[in-house]
Amino acid sequence: MPMKADLWFPTVIWNDQLKDVNNAELKEYVEKLAEEDKEGKVASNYGGWQSKSFEILDQKPVSIERFIHALQRSINECTKMAGMPDLIISDYWWNINYHKDYNQPHNHRDSILSGVYYIDVPEDSDSKIHFDREDEAQYYLPRFMPQRNQITAVRATYSPVNNGILIFPSWVIHYVDGNKSQKPRMSMSFNTSIAATEANNELAKMNGYPPLTQNE
Ligand SMILES: [Fe+2]
Repeated sequence: MPMKADLWFPTVIWNDQLKDVNNAELKEYVEKLAEEDKEGKVASNYGGWQSKSFEILDQKPVSIERFIHALQRSINECTKMAGMPDLIISDYWWNINYHKDYNQPHNHRDSILSGVYYIDVPEDSDSKIHFDREDEAQYYLPRFMPQRNQITAVRATYSPVNNGILIFPSWVIHYVDGNKSQKPRMSMSFNTSIAATEANNELAKMNGYPPLTQNE
């Protein structure tokens, strides 16, 4: 019998395609936001435009409401798969990276799972997102390996596509290559917190905690 391999503490990066999302609608909305708030906010982005952070309870058009519901359904799949408590999108923001703009290595504080949805990725942008290995194995693993796999990889890289969604633990360091296209690259990012659902309140009660209230 071959040796059995148990994978403990893996870095999970969920990915999917949300085919039903209307990107044209989102694009129009984000372009308008960027027009109204030209300065935006500077966070991990070098260059480009990042919107202010929106709270989940902030007023928003029905189209955005619908889109956020679709994201929430993906999060629900992840938490169910991982056996985690229900999480809810707590805040979100919109990103436009113009030619050569990129995102420096960062993680997302005050969040449990985070994610990104790709609204418009120009084909020639060649702007990948990289997730770094969380432990220090990269300093110990031999530099020359027959092939890297999920056990020996030191980095996970994804090439974004339109309608693609990635959901990952908020503590995993990630960064985005510069946009090589002359056309802008547009995405939306979000964070999560514990949801005030009945199931979570039951969990809280069982552990001697007071009931949860949303957006605490
Ligand atoms: Fe990020």
